[in-house]
Amino acid sequence: MSHIKTAVFPVAGMGTRFLPITKSVPKEMLPLIDKPLIQYAVEEARAAGIENFVFVSSPEKPALDDYFRTNYRLENYLASRGSTDALRQVQDVTLKPDTYWITHQIEARGLGHAVWTGRAFLRNEPFAVLLPDDFIHSDRPAIGQMIDMHARIGGNMVASMDVGRDRISSYGCLDVEARAGRCLSAGLIVEKPSAAQAPSTHAVIGRYILQPSVLEHLENAAPGVKGEIQLTDAIAADSAKNELWGYEFEGKRYDCGSKVGFVEATIALAMQREDLSSELSLNTSRTAGFSMVA
Ligand code: G1P
Repeated sequence: MSHIKTAVFPVAGMGTRFLPITKSVPKEMLPLIDKPLIQYAVEEARAAGIENFVFVSSPEKPALDDYFRTNYRLENYLASRGSTDALRQVQDVTLKPDTYWITHQIEARGLGHAVWTGRAFLRNEPFAVLLPDDFIHSDRPAIGQMIDMHARIGGNMVASMDVGRDRISSYGCLDVEARAGRCLSAGLIVEKPSAAQAPSTHAVIGRYILQPSVLEHLENAAPGVKGEIQLTDAIAADSAKNELWGYEFEGKRYDCGSKVGFVEATIALAMQREDLSSELSLNTSRTAGFSMVA
């Protein structure tokens, strides 16, 4: 049984990097093959024992609710045709009404503000945050790896990986004081430092296990980098009370907030799918002048 029961999924962003498709299809609904990006994050959380799902979305995105809600018309249609596999697929992705909530972040005021917007659905206990843009392909769900470790060491925990000095300014950054296996004890966390001023090259990746006291720091938080209320700043403020850990997860992370990352994730997933990989390899080897690296 997981001690982390609830996960927050901040999905209110406009997805401007993926225009024009995101004019009508929310970025988190874009498919990695045949499932929307958000589904992978929900599956990761579910596999880690998380039971409650809080989506911080925006009113312009009815597709999210359509996806997770029961679609009786479709289910009746598939049942009447005896399409049991398709029916099971549809039912598998449907969430029970009392296990998920969609709330709206009306103004784009940053990640910290998005998490704070979900506070009414969080009890006074640690909770997870998953950013669906960070797609992590692993045998054991990345958030599950963190939950197991968090059960032992507590505190606030963020997923981390070394991204190198040339890329650290796009991320939250940990000042690492000590390491024990995959756990990094961090004295400081800063949002998007310049390459020259970054205390390390250990970046924050979009998986968090946070203490409820982080929400208190978000309550009256001042805007930080980019004029937005940063989750990183609230975690930093909470480090007086709760120890801060980076966790170097096992698995490969794809930045699906970028087009290249999205395409790479699609290729990697396709090459691992039994129903696609052999035909795909055959077709690509037939295509002169084009080689595919999984
Ligand atoms: C957000 C966080 C940042 C983190 C990143 C991971 O930034 O603010 O600390 O490193 O996600 O993907 P964003 O990518 O929304 O600018």
